Amino acid sequence: MHDGADPCSRLIGHWEERFAEDAETYFFGKEPSALGRLALRFWKLCRGDDTARILDLGCGEGRDAAWFAEQGHRVTAVEPAPSGLAKAHRLAEERGARLETGLCCDMLEVDLAGYDLYFAGNSLNLLGRSCLPFLRRLRAATPRGGLHAVRIATRESWGPDPRPGHYRFDHNELKHEYRGWRLLYYGEDLIYVPHLDRLASFADIIAQKTRGAAREPD
Ligand SMILES: C[S@@+](CC[C@H](N)C(=O)[O-])C[C@H]1O[C@@H](n2cnc3c(N)ncnc32)[C@H](O)[C@@H]1O
Repeated sequence: MHDGADPCSRLIGHWEERFAEDAETYFFGKEPSALGRLALRFWKLCRGDDTARILDLGCGEGRDAAWFAEQGHRVTAVEPAPSGLAKAHRLAEERGARLETGLCCDMLEVDLAGYDLYFAGNSLNLLGRSCLPFLRRLRAATPRGGLHAVRIATRESWGPDPRPGHYRFDHNELKHEYRGWRLLYYGEDLIYVPHLDRLASFADIIAQKTRGAAREPD
């Protein structure tokens, strides 16, 4: 895990404080994100009624992970903030489902093999300099036919100098990362974030690893 000094552990501490503040209130709400909903729509389109083995990286309080489980999928949720993961388990239970596995750890330490749908909702940025190498590893670990659904902050609103420990994507950079994959959805948006009282910009992608996808360098 991280030592107390690095920016990554400070970021996780920040989220743990948020999630621990009030056990009843879910910071991002209990409903699935737009990307979570879209990811399952594309899963159905590509794979019909197959059960997906889903890896939710940085699940927070589990709004997407719990919903994926409720929809009958096998979900492994990764979240280093213990209060977030505990709330994710609770939310799944409230919905009559359960997370198959909850890993309270850094996503950099997770065995990435063995999943069909990799989901990362606004969490990869927090890997800082490890973000792009991790994304590369994630693509390499994905089986042919597997899907990625990723939402990530872009530089448009945040500026070219990211805060320590953050990595921001340039316009179209995320799409470029997935060249050779089947692009199912790509969009960039600029939204008002009330708790920050500012505009924030994001890129979303849903892509499928095709037969022809180039082998990723290790
Ligand atoms: C902006 S929140 C998004 C939470 C959730 N995906 C959602 O959309 O509701 C970012 C999450 O990423 C988690 N995170 C940060 N660094 C991480 C790491 N190295 N490994 C796994 N999760 C991490 C944080 O603890 C936090 O829960």
